[in-house]
Amino acid sequence: MKISIGSDHGGYQLKQMVIDHLRTRGFEVLDRGCDVPVSCDYPQYAKKVTDDINAGEAELGILICGTGIGMSMAANKAAGIRAALCHDVFSAKACKEHNNANVLCMGARVIGPGLAMMITDTFLDTPFSNDERHIRRISQFS
Ligand code: RB5
Repeated sequence: MKISIGSDHGGYQLKQMVIDHLRTRGFEVLDRGCDVPVSCDYPQYAKKVTDDINAGEAELGILICGTGIGMSMAANKAAGIRAALCHDVFSAKACKEHNNANVLCMGARVIGPGLAMMITDTFLDTPFSNDERHIRRISQFS
């Protein structure tokens, strides 16, 4: 599975750790920046990742900023994107099972790397339930 990942300066260090973790697990990773921890605008990186998903370049995306809030707001503006801001494992599981989320957002100033890796693994390893009621609800998003 190919995963597109992006961050701003606030999420840069955690992004590098998540990339290492994903590659160790055997995932193919598209690193869409930022490439240095210098102040930059998170919507630019949200767009790169959501474009990858909508172009079929990646199946799932991960976006990291200081809080995860800006990234999730920006990502959810793109058609076809269901971005979930998760800072706990329960939400990371539910956002896949119930909402078929295709982008995980996290805040590097909110959680540490240990929890971030558990959330990432849960997000990647949990399938969509395919329950009729969830399909119906998701279809009402737009
Ligand atoms: C950058 O200072 C910070 O605003 C950004 O990383 C993010 O938290 C925005 O939502």
